[in-house]
Amino acid sequence: MGGNRICEMLGIEYPIIQGGLAYVGNGTLAAAVSNGGGLGVVGSAGRSVEDFRRQIQIAAEATDKPFGVNLPISEHSDNTGYVQAILDHKEHIAAVSISAGNPKPYIPIFKEAGLTVMVLTSTVTHSLKAEQAGADLVVCEGFEAGGHNGPAEMTLFSLIPQVSKAVRIPVIAAGGIADGRGILAAMVLGAEGVQLGTRFVATLECQAHEAYKQALVNSHDDATVVMERSIGRVTRVLKGAFVDQILSLEKTSPSIEEMLPYIRGVNNRVAAIEGNLEDGWLNCGQGVGLIQSIESATDIVKTLVAEVDALHSGFSVQWPKLS
Ligand SMILES: Cc1cc2nc3c(=O)[nH]c(=O)nc-3n(C[C@H](O)[C@H](O)[C@H](O)COP(=O)(O)O)c2cc1C
Repeated sequence: MGGNRICEMLGIEYPIIQGGLAYVGNGTLAAAVSNGGGLGVVGSAGRSVEDFRRQIQIAAEATDKPFGVNLPISEHSDNTGYVQAILDHKEHIAAVSISAGNPKPYIPIFKEAGLTVMVLTSTVTHSLKAEQAGADLVVCEGFEAGGHNGPAEMTLFSLIPQVSKAVRIPVIAAGGIADGRGILAAMVLGAEGVQLGTRFVATLECQAHEAYKQALVNSHDDATVVMERSIGRVTRVLKGAFVDQILSLEKTSPSIEEMLPYIRGVNNRVAAIEGNLEDGWLNCGQGVGLIQSIESATDIVKTLVAEVDALHSGFSVQWPKLS
């Protein structure tokens, strides 16, 4: 994939990005993705500043390739410590992905430090705003994606061509992509790279609990559901008994205070890190049915690249010949 703008900007071999993963986006995983030729990303959601710093150091020790970090603005009550941690490690970090809030105040800080800035968006309007605010890359995320999604609930198929037509900066597509076919399709629609989240949870290097990884392997296409719509949020999670309780409560038009005991991050951690699937919820994207094994993230990047390569060179569709 020579000549790809995203590879050139990030100094990576293949335009395959690992999404910031709340609680489970650890340094070892980020390094493994980067070692495969993609861009690994150390997550900060669900981590203390100290842990975030430690995970950046772990990634820096485990790879000499570029990697990034994720700053989901509204996930932290105070972003100061996380921003400082990123600036303190800027010589190790290639890029910052900003999500879940207004990126405008943060973009100049990271640009000044020499970092590439990627902004997660889910509509054309927000993509244009990100570009105007100085983002280098836009990650457009469809509502197939695992975790928090945009309120417009745009599907990736509709989003990519409209966003890539509107902005001049390169577009990275995210949501429901888990194999080479999805990558190639995203690129045909106008993306220049892809971001995968759920696929990288089911990996040897990810710190997610084994039960979470196994649940992903065992799940089919219809295994996910959106929760929190009643309070104006869109969060795609794996179906299960705990999520059923949340969905039942949502039918009663609950206040945020009534919802909080169920939706707070600790209930994600209990399931994702401790493996108590009955007592919490798990982020998961709609492409989960494509995940059939737990592998090294390095190997996954290599397999994805080989799949794209094979499809790309022998690409054919059943389309009638022009008469
Ligand atoms: C377990 C999990 C946690 C996530 N946490 C974050 C996060 O903290 N910050 C963020 O920007 N995106 C987060 N996302 C979204 C991913 O970065 C990525 O855009 C998304 O997973 C892509 O869709 P996919 O899961 O279908 O591959 C999360 C996704 C998952 C599956």
